[in-house]
Amino acid sequence: MRVVLWVKPQTSLLALLLGWLYTVGAFRKRRPKEPPLDKGFIPWLGHAIKFKKNPAEFLEVMRKKHGDIFTLLVGGNYIHFLADADSYEPILKESPDKLDFDKFGSMIVLNVFAFQPTDSHHHILKKISKEYLRGKGLAVLNKVMMEKLKTVMLHSWDSGEHKRHWQQDGVFHFSYKTIFQAAFLALFGTELDKENAKKNTLTQCGEFFGNFQKFDHLFPQMALGILDPQGKKDTERLRNFFWDKLSVEKICKKDNISKWIAVQDQQMAEIGMTEKMRTQFMFLLLWASQANTGPAAFWVLVHLLKYPEAMKAVREEVDRVLRETGQEVNPGSPIIDVSLETIKTPLLDSTIEEILRLKVSPFLFRSVMQDTDLKMADGREYIFRKGDQLLLFPFLGLHMDPEIYPDPHTFRYDRFLNPDGTKREFYKNGKKLKKYTMPFGGGPSICPGRFFAVSELKINSTSEIAQWQWEAPLAKVVPQVKNGFRLRMDLRNELST
Ligand code: HEM
Repeated sequence: MRVVLWVKPQTSLLALLLGWLYTVGAFRKRRPKEPPLDKGFIPWLGHAIKFKKNPAEFLEVMRKKHGDIFTLLVGGNYIHFLADADSYEPILKESPDKLDFDKFGSMIVLNVFAFQPTDSHHHILKKISKEYLRGKGLAVLNKVMMEKLKTVMLHSWDSGEHKRHWQQDGVFHFSYKTIFQAAFLALFGTELDKENAKKNTLTQCGEFFGNFQKFDHLFPQMALGILDPQGKKDTERLRNFFWDKLSVEKICKKDNISKWIAVQDQQMAEIGMTEKMRTQFMFLLLWASQANTGPAAFWVLVHLLKYPEAMKAVREEVDRVLRETGQEVNPGSPIIDVSLETIKTPLLDSTIEEILRLKVSPFLFRSVMQDTDLKMADGREYIFRKGDQLLLFPFLGLHMDPEIYPDPHTFRYDRFLNPDGTKREFYKNGKKLKKYTMPFGGGPSICPGRFFAVSELKINSTSEIAQWQWEAPLAKVVPQVKNGFRLRMDLRNELST
């Protein structure tokens, strides 16, 4: 006899609903010692919509509601936010068995660049970056960067429709494109075909830049795996473009490739990475090395143009450097050349640090691999639950803290200097801070390109200030990343070459 179990339709629906509510976390309750829990009103999504719209603003609202530590439901994930930067250190030092920094990053790399990085890849990246993006390796790269910046500037001036006359461009486009092209040439080398090398490479750089911006625009949706059908088509096309142009086969045929790229690729090949993966990795390196530097260069220039007292002070400093290095910017004189090892520019350094404080707001993710205790700086103790995510957002917890930075939203080019020009120290609760800005992240996942990034910004700003004269409609300055404002510019030394 067959035994048939019949379930009443209402019962099965109820069971399904309960099962679904359970899986979307609707029944989760705050356990003892866990941070305050806020699930919002929409099952599974929780606070996803508001969070996606404006994360910094939303987190500030939540901080006012819950204090400096809380847990939010965001698109099916329980995310602990910690705003108290004083308590970051134990988290950044915690072992990956408890708080893993790779898991989340690897998911993003897979979604965006279509390959799964391993510990060995990461180890090579760290090792080679330490060798070639710091110390002596960095000095070599800085020199090449200066050379390439000259090439790009000359080309941009040369190719202007009305040579020797004012050219017009958007600030965002001008500053991002200039630093992008120079860094691309410095890191990925130039064409072997000597005859047309300069022209071809710069034309190719222009195409690269356009496609890079389109790709970067789609990055957040790609990272979260929420592309619409058109977005999927566009990313497919753009990825194929970069995989073709950055194919290992083509890169290997180039001249003057930086050691950072060449040695990494060689070591990746030695551990058995396929050619396809090496090409995908090249694209990742291009993106990582370019996506943040261009916008930072734009913000530096925009603030110098908007605040004439800052421009005046920094320009005087740059002019002093030129005098000390025996250079001048006069009609017919060559493009300037500075070596960061021999110049001191405290005001420009402070300006760059201030821009990184004001405008760079990285999210630092850790995956909670097992229930993990946190003892905060003020002695409070919490537990993070296994399977959750932890998010540090130093922009809110550190960069915008009015106790550390009075009037934190205001741009002050000399904020990082004492009146006598020495470097300032920063305090919280009467304690001197070891880390007072974190634009490059922290702990084992800290940006390996941070020293080169700052060098690039210095070299680029020095050249912009020394070499170009600007005419911008300052009254209308509204610094927005997308459009910026347009400026008219000319080379101060009206080159005759
Ligand atoms: C202003 C410019 C830059 C900013 C604000 C920036 C910021 C960051 C941040 C926040 C991270 C993640 C850190 C973390 O998760 O803790 C990162 C990772 C990374 N950055 Fe940068 N970066 C910049 C420029 C550069 C440059 C110029 C290079 C290379 C030449 C570079 C190479 C990388 C790489 C390869 C990673 C991934 C590291 C890993 O997976 O361990 N970055 N960057």
